[in-house]
Amino acid sequence: MERSEEAGLRHGMRQSLRDWFDERVGLDIFERMLQKPLPKRGAWFYTLGSATLSLITIQFVTGAFLMFYYVPDGEYAEQSIRYITEQVSYGWYLRSMHRWSANLLFVVIGLHMFRVFVSGSFKRPREMTWVIGALIFLTVIGIGLTGGLLPWDDNAHWIGTVFGNTLSYFPLVGPFLRSALLGGEHVGTLTLTRFYALHVWVLPLVLGILITLHLYLIRKHGLFGSVIEYRDQIAALKAKGVPRESIIVTKMTPDETEPFYPAQVFRDSIVAFGLITAVSLFSILFPFSPYRGEEPPPTEIIPRPEWFFWSVDEWLMFFPGRLIPIGLILVTLFFLFLPLIPFVERHPEVSPIRRPVPTIIGTWVYLFIIVLALMAGARILNY
Ligand code: HEM
Repeated sequence: MERSEEAGLRHGMRQSLRDWFDERVGLDIFERMLQKPLPKRGAWFYTLGSATLSLITIQFVTGAFLMFYYVPDGEYAEQSIRYITEQVSYGWYLRSMHRWSANLLFVVIGLHMFRVFVSGSFKRPREMTWVIGALIFLTVIGIGLTGGLLPWDDNAHWIGTVFGNTLSYFPLVGPFLRSALLGGEHVGTLTLTRFYALHVWVLPLVLGILITLHLYLIRKHGLFGSVIEYRDQIAALKAKGVPRESIIVTKMTPDETEPFYPAQVFRDSIVAFGLITAVSLFSILFPFSPYRGEEPPPTEIIPRPEWFFWSVDEWLMFFPGRLIPIGLILVTLFFLFLPLIPFVERHPEVSPIRRPVPTIIGTWVYLFIIVLALMAGARILNY
């Protein structure tokens, strides 16, 4: 058969396979998704959302593997973790991947939030994209918190006890929250099964639904990007004498766009590949199971929260004794305030320079959280 005839035959087979699927599942929706135009100038900044998604995917895959062996029972949980680490082929590696990826997830999600906040991407009509995003953030915190108990070692018992005690400081509902979550007055098997259920299916299910909604809204409104995507149109309007204050950037389409496929898919893949490599390297160089096959030296068992809770831990230190409820209520108000940001900062201006108050407050909040975490780190690690 001639080369051209062969190529034609292959093309024909591909086309009929495509048509077969198109008729049954409707491929046009995927094709439209791939062709969706995206703003071009700040493209690398727009990889942070998909980077978050990549890390969550690593969590789901490695978490499913851990579930094959983990036993959520007060008597066997710690043993099953040791079994995964010491006996199962590459168990130590996949467990370390799960933990390193969780650590990185908090960093990347924080960067993604910062980028969408500073660029004013949450403004009308994208308020609900932010609200859903903030709920995602709270769910991720919940997953991180509940996961800390599952190793069921001394540190896990300590985390459960401290968390339960902290909850009980809430006025009125505190004692109820504490016993509902702990499954009684003290940390026990019921605490473990509750945290396990929350960690492996309740919160991941909520997360899956929220991420689907988040992506749907991004698809619906198109990516806003940031003010740099609109500077030609802004300059043209200004040249015509339109005052800058009356230019509503969120109503415009970007000056320059490109389809999602192939350029952005390529960038997202590079970032995803970089993250998988980083998580993998960290897991090999600094595995979370340094005592494979041996008993850990007793001095090493120092109760400490995961670093992503250090800032809250340090914050509560400012409120000793009877003041704890105040510190706790302030933290809760902060978390409840997050989804409300688009309804508080409603002015259509998106440029970070032209809205200095939110930009400065937002940056200070980030710096404050980092400083609190560093202070807690210095205290906890005894530097
Ligand atoms: C699992 C966590 C998350 C995933 C997988 C995710 C995914 C994404 C993706 C893929 C995009 C489009 C690309 C980009 O702008 O980076 C995006 C945009 C956006 N995200 Fe997220 N996101 C998450 C968390 C959050 C959080 C915590 C917030 C804020 C509280 C948030 C608010 C937004 C907003 C407002 C946009 C629109 C940006 C624009 O139109 O320019 N997201 N997200």
